[in-house]
Amino acid sequence: MNPTPPSPPPPLTPGTALVTGVTGQDGSYLAELLLRKGYEVHGVVRRSSTFNTARIDALYQDPHEHDVRLKLHYGDLTDANCLAKLLSEVQPDEVYNLGAQSHVRVSFDMPIYTVDTVAMGAIKLLEAVRDYQQTTSRAVRYYQASSSEMFGKVVEVPQTETTPFHPRSPYGCAKVFAHHTTINYRESYDMHASCGILFNHESPRRGETFVTRKITRAVGRIKLGLQSKLYLGNLDAKRDWGYAGDFVQAMWLMLQQDEPGDYVIATGETRSVREFCELTFGHVDLDYNDFVEIDPRYFRPAEVDLLLGDAAKARSRLGWAPRVDVEQLARMMVDHDLELAQCELTLRNAGHDIPSFVGHDQ
Ligand code: NAP
Ligand code: GDD
Repeated sequence: MNPTPPSPPPPLTPGTALVTGVTGQDGSYLAELLLRKGYEVHGVVRRSSTFNTARIDALYQDPHEHDVRLKLHYGDLTDANCLAKLLSEVQPDEVYNLGAQSHVRVSFDMPIYTVDTVAMGAIKLLEAVRDYQQTTSRAVRYYQASSSEMFGKVVEVPQTETTPFHPRSPYGCAKVFAHHTTINYRESYDMHASCGILFNHESPRRGETFVTRKITRAVGRIKLGLQSKLYLGNLDAKRDWGYAGDFVQAMWLMLQQDEPGDYVIATGETRSVREFCELTFGHVDLDYNDFVEIDPRYFRPAEVDLLLGDAAKARSRLGWAPRVDVEQLARMMVDHDLELAQCELTLRNAGHDIPSFVGHDQ
Protein backbone atom coordinates (compact mmCIF):
# COMPACT_ATOMS: atom_id res chain seq x y z
CA MET A 1 0.00 0.00 0.00
CA ASN A 2 2.93 2.36 0.65
CA PRO A 3 6.12 3.07 -1.28
CA THR A 4 9.17 1.17 -0.03
CA PRO A 5 10.65 3.18 2.85
CA PRO A 6 14.35 4.00 3.08
CA SER A 7 16.40 1.53 5.14
CA PRO A 8 16.35 2.08 8.89
CA PRO A 9 19.59 3.21 10.57
CA PRO A 10 21.93 0.42 11.70
CA PRO A 11 20.87 -0.79 15.16
CA LEU A 12 22.96 -0.01 18.21
CA THR A 13 24.25 -3.03 20.07
CA PRO A 14 21.16 -4.48 21.74
CA GLY A 15 21.14 -3.62 25.40
CA THR A 16 18.69 -3.67 28.28
CA ALA A 17 15.18 -2.28 28.02
CA LEU A 18 12.69 -1.49 30.78
CA VAL A 19 9.05 -1.56 29.63
CA THR A 20 6.09 -0.31 31.66
CA GLY A 21 2.76 -1.71 30.46
CA VAL A 22 4.45 -4.91 29.26
CA THR A 23 1.25 -6.90 29.89
CA GLY A 24 -0.78 -4.65 27.56
CA GLN A 25 -1.35 -4.93 23.83
CA ASP A 26 1.65 -2.79 22.81
CA GLY A 27 3.88 -4.02 25.61
CA SER A 28 3.51 -7.60 24.39
CA TYR A 29 4.37 -6.74 20.77
CA LEU A 30 7.26 -4.52 21.86
CA ALA A 31 8.69 -7.18 24.17
CA GLU A 32 8.59 -9.67 21.29
CA LEU A 33 10.35 -7.23 18.99
CA LEU A 34 13.07 -6.38 21.52
CA LEU A 35 13.70 -10.03 22.38
CA ARG A 36 14.01 -10.82 18.66
CA LYS A 37 16.62 -8.08 18.41
CA GLY A 38 18.64 -9.58 21.26
CA TYR A 39 17.70 -7.21 24.11
CA GLU A 40 17.32 -8.20 27.72
CA VAL A 41 13.77 -7.05 28.48
CA HIS A 42 12.53 -6.09 31.93
CA GLY A 43 8.78 -5.70 32.18
CA VAL A 44 6.84 -3.95 34.93
CA VAL A 45 3.80 -5.95 36.01
CA ARG A 46 1.04 -4.78 38.35
CA ARG A 47 0.19 -7.03 41.24
CA SER A 48 -3.23 -8.51 40.65
CA SER A 49 -5.31 -11.20 42.35
CA THR A 50 -5.62 -13.04 39.04
CA PHE A 51 -3.00 -13.58 36.35
CA ASN A 52 -2.65 -10.55 34.08
CA THR A 53 0.20 -11.84 31.90
CA ALA A 54 -1.80 -13.70 29.22
CA ARG A 55 -0.43 -11.56 26.38
CA ILE A 56 3.18 -12.34 27.28
CA ASP A 57 2.74 -15.94 28.41
CA ALA A 58 4.24 -17.17 25.15
CA LEU A 59 7.41 -15.16 25.88
CA TYR A 60 7.70 -16.21 29.51
CA GLN A 61 10.84 -18.06 30.52
CA ASP A 62 11.29 -19.91 33.78
CA PRO A 63 13.53 -17.61 35.87
CA HIS A 64 15.40 -20.70 37.11
CA GLU A 65 16.73 -21.37 33.62
CA HIS A 66 19.98 -19.89 32.29
CA ASP A 67 20.08 -17.05 29.80
CA VAL A 68 16.61 -15.72 30.63
CA ARG A 69 16.09 -12.50 28.66
CA LEU A 70 12.55 -11.57 29.72
CA LYS A 71 12.41 -10.59 33.38
CA LEU A 72 9.29 -9.39 35.14
CA HIS A 73 9.15 -7.07 38.14
CA TYR A 74 6.23 -5.98 40.26
CA GLY A 75 5.72 -2.24 40.05
CA ASP A 76 3.22 0.53 39.49
CA LEU A 77 3.44 3.94 37.86
CA THR A 78 1.77 5.50 40.88
CA ASP A 79 4.69 4.40 43.08
CA ALA A 80 7.69 6.70 42.51
CA ASN A 81 9.82 4.81 45.00
CA CYS A 82 9.49 1.50 43.17
CA LEU A 83 10.26 3.18 39.83
CA ALA A 84 13.51 4.63 41.20
CA LYS A 85 14.47 1.24 42.64
CA LEU A 86 13.72 -0.48 39.33
CA LEU A 87 15.97 1.94 37.46
CA SER A 88 18.97 1.20 39.69
CA GLU A 89 18.28 -2.53 39.74
CA VAL A 90 17.72 -2.99 35.98
CA GLN A 91 20.22 -0.36 34.73
CA PRO A 92 18.41 0.03 31.42
CA ASP A 93 19.72 1.59 28.22
CA GLU A 94 16.19 2.22 27.00
CA VAL A 95 12.95 2.89 28.90
CA TYR A 96 9.58 2.56 27.17
CA ASN A 97 6.71 4.10 29.12
CA LEU A 98 3.61 2.28 27.83
CA GLY A 99 1.74 1.83 31.11
CA ALA A 100 -1.56 3.69 31.40
CA GLN A 101 -5.23 3.57 32.28
CA SER A 102 -5.74 3.73 28.52
CA HIS A 103 -9.52 3.60 28.10
CA VAL A 104 -10.96 7.00 27.13
CA ARG A 105 -14.56 6.31 28.27
CA VAL A 106 -13.35 4.90 31.60
CA SER A 107 -11.24 8.05 32.14
CA PHE A 108 -14.52 9.99 32.56
CA ASP A 109 -15.50 7.59 35.37
CA MET A 110 -12.02 7.54 36.95
CA PRO A 111 -10.43 10.89 36.08
CA ILE A 112 -8.16 11.13 39.10
CA TYR A 113 -6.79 7.61 38.84
CA THR A 114 -6.29 8.15 35.11
CA VAL A 115 -4.28 11.33 35.75
CA ASP A 116 -2.31 9.52 38.48
CA THR A 117 -1.14 6.81 36.09
CA VAL A 118 -0.93 8.69 32.80
CA ALA A 119 0.32 12.15 33.82
CA MET A 120 1.86 11.71 37.27
CA GLY A 121 3.14 8.26 36.30
CA ALA A 122 5.10 9.74 33.39
CA ILE A 123 6.69 12.50 35.47
CA LYS A 124 7.57 10.02 38.23
CA LEU A 125 9.29 7.79 35.69
CA LEU A 126 11.07 10.74 34.05
CA GLU A 127 12.32 11.86 37.47
CA ALA A 128 13.57 8.35 38.20
CA VAL A 129 15.43 8.31 34.86
CA ARG A 130 16.89 11.78 35.47
CA ASP A 131 18.12 10.84 38.98
CA TYR A 132 19.56 7.58 37.71
CA GLN A 133 21.41 9.36 34.89
CA GLN A 134 22.79 11.99 37.27
CA THR A 135 24.00 9.54 39.89
CA THR A 136 25.49 6.96 37.51
CA SER A 137 26.44 9.13 34.49
CA ARG A 138 24.88 6.42 32.32
CA ALA A 139 22.81 7.51 29.33
CA VAL A 140 19.20 6.32 29.10
CA ARG A 141 16.87 6.74 26.13
CA TYR A 142 13.21 7.29 27.02
CA TYR A 143 10.05 6.68 24.99
CA GLN A 144 6.73 8.28 25.94
CA ALA A 145 3.49 6.77 24.62
CA SER A 146 1.73 9.94 23.48
CA SER A 147 -1.61 9.71 21.71
CA SER A 148 -3.69 11.11 18.88
CA GLU A 149 -6.39 11.55 21.54
CA MET A 150 -4.42 14.72 22.42
CA PHE A 151 -5.66 16.35 19.17
CA GLY A 152 -9.25 15.86 20.34
CA LYS A 153 -11.44 18.50 18.72
CA VAL A 154 -9.29 18.73 15.64
CA VAL A 155 -8.53 22.04 13.97
CA GLU A 156 -6.53 20.56 11.11
CA VAL A 157 -6.87 17.48 8.91
CA PRO A 158 -4.65 15.50 8.65
CA GLN A 159 -2.93 15.93 12.00
CA THR A 160 0.86 16.32 12.16
CA GLU A 161 3.46 16.93 14.87
CA THR A 162 2.59 20.66 14.77
CA THR A 163 -1.22 20.41 14.95
CA PRO A 164 -2.47 22.11 18.15
CA PHE A 165 -3.92 19.93 20.90
CA HIS A 166 -7.50 20.23 22.17
CA PRO A 167 -8.01 17.15 24.36
CA ARG A 168 -11.59 15.98 24.98
CA SER A 169 -11.22 13.58 27.92
CA PRO A 170 -9.38 13.28 31.24
CA TYR A 171 -7.20 10.70 29.47
CA GLY A 172 -6.41 13.14 26.64
CA CYS A 173 -5.61 15.95 29.11
CA ALA A 174 -3.29 13.65 31.06
CA LYS A 175 -1.51 12.56 27.87
CA VAL A 176 -0.96 16.22 26.91
CA PHE A 177 0.69 16.80 30.30
CA ALA A 178 2.92 13.73 29.90
CA HIS A 179 3.80 14.77 26.33
CA HIS A 180 4.83 18.32 27.25
CA THR A 181 6.67 17.08 30.34
CA THR A 182 8.71 14.68 28.23
CA ILE A 183 9.66 17.52 25.88
CA ASN A 184 10.47 19.72 28.88
CA TYR A 185 12.82 17.08 30.34
CA ARG A 186 14.51 16.77 26.94
CA GLU A 187 15.02 20.54 26.76
CA SER A 188 15.87 21.12 30.44
CA TYR A 189 18.12 18.17 31.14
CA ASP A 190 19.35 17.25 27.67
CA MET A 191 17.68 13.86 27.92
CA HIS A 192 17.23 11.54 24.94
CA ALA A 193 13.44 11.54 25.42
CA SER A 194 11.05 11.00 22.49
CA CYS A 195 7.28 11.00 22.10
CA GLY A 196 5.40 8.78 19.68
CA ILE A 197 2.04 10.38 18.87
CA LEU A 198 0.41 7.12 17.94
CA PHE A 199 -2.98 6.96 16.27
CA ASN A 200 -5.30 4.07 17.13
CA HIS A 201 -3.68 0.71 16.61
CA GLU A 202 -5.35 -2.61 17.04
CA SER A 203 -4.68 -6.34 16.83
CA PRO A 204 -6.07 -9.68 17.96
CA ARG A 205 -4.53 -8.77 21.35
CA ARG A 206 -6.51 -5.52 21.66
CA GLY A 207 -8.47 -5.18 24.91
CA GLU A 208 -12.04 -6.37 24.40
CA THR A 209 -13.66 -3.08 25.46
CA PHE A 210 -12.05 -1.02 22.69
CA VAL A 211 -14.42 -0.68 19.79
CA THR A 212 -12.61 -2.69 17.09
CA ARG A 213 -12.12 -5.73 19.31
CA LYS A 214 -15.59 -5.42 20.80
CA ILE A 215 -16.88 -5.62 17.22
CA THR A 216 -14.68 -8.49 16.04
CA ARG A 217 -15.40 -10.55 19.17
CA ALA A 218 -19.10 -10.04 18.52
CA VAL A 219 -18.76 -10.92 14.82
CA GLY A 220 -17.18 -14.27 15.70
CA ARG A 221 -19.79 -15.08 18.33
CA ILE A 222 -22.75 -13.93 16.21
CA LYS A 223 -21.53 -15.96 13.24
CA LEU A 224 -21.47 -19.11 15.41
CA GLY A 225 -24.79 -18.40 17.11
CA LEU A 226 -23.33 -17.55 20.53
CA GLN A 227 -24.62 -13.97 20.57
CA SER A 228 -27.51 -12.22 18.83
CA LYS A 229 -26.90 -8.46 19.24
CA LEU A 230 -24.03 -6.00 19.52
CA TYR A 231 -24.66 -2.75 21.40
CA LEU A 232 -22.46 0.18 20.40
CA GLY A 233 -22.34 3.97 20.89
CA ASN A 234 -21.34 6.55 18.30
CA LEU A 235 -21.01 4.86 14.89
CA ASP A 236 -19.97 8.08 13.14
CA ALA A 237 -16.66 8.65 14.93
CA LYS A 238 -13.73 8.24 12.53
CA ARG A 239 -10.37 6.77 13.41
CA ASP A 240 -7.06 6.15 11.65
CA TRP A 241 -6.68 2.47 12.55
CA GLY A 242 -3.35 0.67 12.16
CA TYR A 243 -1.81 -2.60 13.30
CA ALA A 244 -0.05 -2.66 16.70
CA GLY A 245 2.69 -4.96 15.39
CA ASP A 246 3.69 -2.24 12.89
CA PHE A 247 3.45 0.59 15.40
CA VAL A 248 5.85 -0.85 18.01
CA GLN A 249 8.56 -0.88 15.32
CA ALA A 250 8.27 2.91 15.24
CA MET A 251 8.77 3.14 19.02
CA TRP A 252 12.02 1.24 18.75
CA LEU A 253 13.20 3.24 15.73
CA MET A 254 12.70 6.53 17.63
CA LEU A 255 15.16 5.41 20.29
CA GLN A 256 17.77 4.37 17.71
CA GLN A 257 18.09 7.93 16.32
CA ASP A 258 21.04 10.13 17.27
CA GLU A 259 18.62 12.89 18.23
CA PRO A 260 15.38 12.53 20.20
CA GLY A 261 12.16 13.86 18.68
CA ASP A 262 8.39 13.61 18.39
CA TYR A 263 6.69 11.64 15.65
CA VAL A 264 3.15 11.07 14.43
CA ILE A 265 2.62 7.37 13.71
CA ALA A 266 -0.47 6.69 11.60
CA THR A 267 -1.66 4.95 8.43
CA GLY A 268 -3.06 8.03 6.68
CA GLU A 269 -6.49 6.40 6.17
CA THR A 270 -9.58 7.05 8.27
CA ARG A 271 -12.77 4.97 8.67
CA SER A 272 -15.90 5.41 10.73
CA VAL A 273 -16.94 2.87 13.36
CA ARG A 274 -19.86 2.10 11.01
CA GLU A 275 -17.44 1.34 8.16
CA PHE A 276 -15.42 -0.92 10.46
CA CYS A 277 -18.68 -2.78 11.21
CA GLU A 278 -19.36 -3.13 7.48
CA LEU A 279 -15.86 -4.50 6.87
CA THR A 280 -15.90 -7.01 9.72
CA PHE A 281 -19.47 -8.31 9.44
CA GLY A 282 -19.03 -8.34 5.65
CA HIS A 283 -15.96 -10.59 6.02
CA VAL A 284 -18.24 -13.37 7.32
CA ASP A 285 -21.11 -12.55 4.91
CA LEU A 286 -23.29 -10.83 7.49
CA ASP A 287 -24.99 -7.41 7.35
CA TYR A 288 -24.17 -5.37 10.47
CA ASN A 289 -27.58 -3.63 10.26
CA ASP A 290 -29.20 -6.91 11.34
CA PHE A 291 -27.21 -7.10 14.58
CA VAL A 292 -25.93 -3.70 15.75
CA GLU A 293 -28.05 -1.57 18.07
CA ILE A 294 -27.23 1.79 19.59
CA ASP A 295 -27.01 2.09 23.36
CA PRO A 296 -26.44 5.68 24.57
CA ARG A 297 -24.49 4.41 27.59
CA TYR A 298 -21.53 4.08 25.24
CA PHE A 299 -21.66 7.75 24.21
CA ARG A 300 -18.96 9.95 25.72
CA PRO A 301 -19.50 13.29 27.48
CA ALA A 302 -17.24 14.83 24.81
CA GLU A 303 -16.32 12.95 21.64
CA VAL A 304 -13.33 12.98 19.31
CA ASP A 305 -15.04 12.98 15.90
CA LEU A 306 -12.23 12.59 13.41
CA LEU A 307 -8.64 11.41 13.59
CA LEU A 308 -6.42 11.14 10.52
CA GLY A 309 -2.66 11.25 10.83
CA ASP A 310 0.12 12.27 8.49
CA ALA A 311 3.22 10.21 9.30
CA ALA A 312 5.46 11.90 6.69
CA LYS A 313 8.12 12.80 9.28
CA ALA A 314 8.35 9.19 10.53
CA ARG A 315 8.51 7.97 6.94
CA SER A 316 11.37 10.25 5.96
CA ARG A 317 13.41 10.28 9.21
CA LEU A 318 12.76 6.82 10.66
CA GLY A 319 12.12 4.95 7.43
CA TRP A 320 8.86 3.75 9.00
CA ALA A 321 5.73 2.82 7.07
CA PRO A 322 2.75 0.67 8.04
CA ARG A 323 2.52 -2.74 6.38
CA VAL A 324 -1.02 -3.70 7.34
CA ASP A 325 -3.98 -1.62 6.15
CA VAL A 326 -7.39 -1.43 7.80
CA GLU A 327 -8.98 -4.09 5.55
CA GLN A 328 -6.19 -6.57 6.37
CA LEU A 329 -6.43 -5.63 10.03
CA ALA A 330 -10.19 -6.22 10.09
CA ARG A 331 -9.77 -9.66 8.45
CA MET A 332 -6.92 -10.61 10.81
CA MET A 333 -8.98 -9.72 13.88
CA VAL A 334 -12.18 -11.41 12.68
CA ASP A 335 -10.34 -14.61 11.71
CA HIS A 336 -8.72 -14.72 15.14
CA ASP A 337 -12.00 -14.08 16.97
CA LEU A 338 -13.86 -16.67 14.89
CA GLU A 339 -11.35 -19.23 16.15
CA LEU A 340 -11.89 -18.03 19.70
CA ALA A 341 -15.66 -18.34 19.27
CA GLN A 342 -15.18 -21.82 17.84
CA CYS A 343 -13.25 -22.84 20.97
CA GLU A 344 -16.04 -21.43 23.14
CA LEU A 345 -18.66 -23.33 21.13
CA THR A 346 -16.71 -26.59 21.38
CA LEU A 347 -16.40 -26.23 25.15
CA ARG A 348 -20.09 -25.38 25.52
CA ASN A 349 -21.08 -28.37 23.39
CA ALA A 350 -18.93 -30.56 25.64
CA GLY A 351 -20.99 -29.35 28.62
CA HIS A 352 -18.56 -26.79 30.08
CA ASP A 353 -20.11 -23.76 31.72
CA ILE A 354 -18.28 -20.85 30.03
CA PRO A 355 -18.95 -17.45 31.60
CA SER A 356 -20.71 -15.11 29.19
CA PHE A 357 -18.76 -12.42 27.37
CA VAL A 358 -17.44 -9.25 29.10
CA GLY A 359 -19.06 -8.17 32.32
CA HIS A 360 -18.30 -4.46 32.20
CA ASP A 361 -17.89 -3.45 28.59
CA GLN A 362 -17.45 0.18 27.57
P1 NAP B 1 -3.34 -1.41 27.19
O1 NAP B 1 -3.51 -2.66 26.40
O2 NAP B 1 -4.52 -0.87 27.93
O3 NAP B 1 -2.16 -1.68 28.22
C1 NAP B 1 -1.90 -0.77 29.27
C2 NAP B 1 -0.80 -1.35 30.14
O4 NAP B 1 -0.56 -0.43 31.23
C3 NAP B 1 -1.14 -2.70 30.79
O5 NAP B 1 0.02 -3.47 30.85
C4 NAP B 1 -1.59 -2.30 32.18
O6 NAP B 1 -1.45 -3.32 33.13
C5 NAP B 1 -0.59 -1.17 32.45
N1 NAP B 1 -0.98 -0.29 33.55
C6 NAP B 1 -2.19 0.23 33.81
N2 NAP B 1 -2.14 0.99 34.92
C7 NAP B 1 -0.87 0.92 35.38
C8 NAP B 1 -0.20 1.45 36.51
N3 NAP B 1 -0.82 2.21 37.40
N4 NAP B 1 1.12 1.16 36.66
C9 NAP B 1 1.77 0.37 35.77
N5 NAP B 1 1.18 -0.17 34.69
C10 NAP B 1 -0.12 0.11 34.50
O7 NAP B 1 -2.80 -0.23 26.28
P2 NAP B 1 -2.05 -0.31 24.85
O8 NAP B 1 -3.07 -0.26 23.79
O9 NAP B 1 -1.05 -1.39 24.89
O10 NAP B 1 -1.33 1.11 24.83
C11 NAP B 1 0.01 1.27 25.32
C12 NAP B 1 0.26 2.73 25.62
O11 NAP B 1 0.09 3.50 24.42
C13 NAP B 1 -0.69 3.35 26.63
O12 NAP B 1 0.03 4.34 27.34
C14 NAP B 1 -1.76 4.02 25.78
O13 NAP B 1 -2.35 5.07 26.49
C15 NAP B 1 -0.92 4.49 24.61
N6 NAP B 1 -1.60 4.61 23.33
C16 NAP B 1 -2.31 3.57 22.82
C17 NAP B 1 -2.89 3.67 21.57
C18 NAP B 1 -3.67 2.54 20.96
O14 NAP B 1 -4.41 2.79 20.00
N7 NAP B 1 -3.50 1.31 21.44
C19 NAP B 1 -2.74 4.86 20.83
C20 NAP B 1 -1.99 5.89 21.38
C21 NAP B 1 -1.40 5.76 22.63
P3 NAP B 1 -2.59 -4.46 33.31
O15 NAP B 1 -2.36 -5.45 32.19
O16 NAP B 1 -2.31 -5.01 34.65
O17 NAP B 1 -3.92 -3.77 33.18
N1 GDD C 1 -14.99 1.62 23.35
C1 GDD C 1 -16.09 1.82 22.63
N2 GDD C 1 -17.20 1.03 22.84
N3 GDD C 1 -16.07 2.79 21.69
C2 GDD C 1 -17.20 2.95 20.95
C3 GDD C 1 -18.34 2.17 21.12
C4 GDD C 1 -18.34 1.17 22.12
O1 GDD C 1 -19.32 0.45 22.34
N4 GDD C 1 -19.27 2.57 20.20
C5 GDD C 1 -18.73 3.55 19.51
N5 GDD C 1 -17.47 3.81 19.95
C6 GDD C 1 -16.58 4.87 19.45
C7 GDD C 1 -16.03 5.78 20.55
O2 GDD C 1 -17.01 6.74 20.93
C8 GDD C 1 -14.82 6.37 19.83
O3 GDD C 1 -15.21 7.48 19.06
C9 GDD C 1 -14.38 5.25 18.89
O4 GDD C 1 -15.43 4.28 18.86
C10 GDD C 1 -13.08 4.56 19.31
O5 GDD C 1 -13.21 4.17 20.67
P1 GDD C 1 -12.11 3.23 21.37
O6 GDD C 1 -11.90 2.00 20.59
O7 GDD C 1 -12.52 3.08 22.80
O8 GDD C 1 -10.75 4.07 21.23
P2 GDD C 1 -10.41 5.61 21.48
O9 GDD C 1 -10.18 6.23 20.14
O10 GDD C 1 -11.37 6.26 22.38
O11 GDD C 1 -9.03 5.50 22.27
C11 GDD C 1 -8.00 4.61 21.82
O12 GDD C 1 -7.17 5.28 20.91
C12 GDD C 1 -6.40 6.38 21.48
C13 GDD C 1 -5.57 6.99 20.32
O13 GDD C 1 -6.35 7.87 19.58
C14 GDD C 1 -7.24 4.11 23.06
O14 GDD C 1 -6.38 3.07 22.66
C15 GDD C 1 -6.42 5.22 23.68
O15 GDD C 1 -5.60 4.66 24.72
C16 GDD C 1 -5.53 5.83 22.59
O16 GDD C 1 -4.72 6.85 23.12
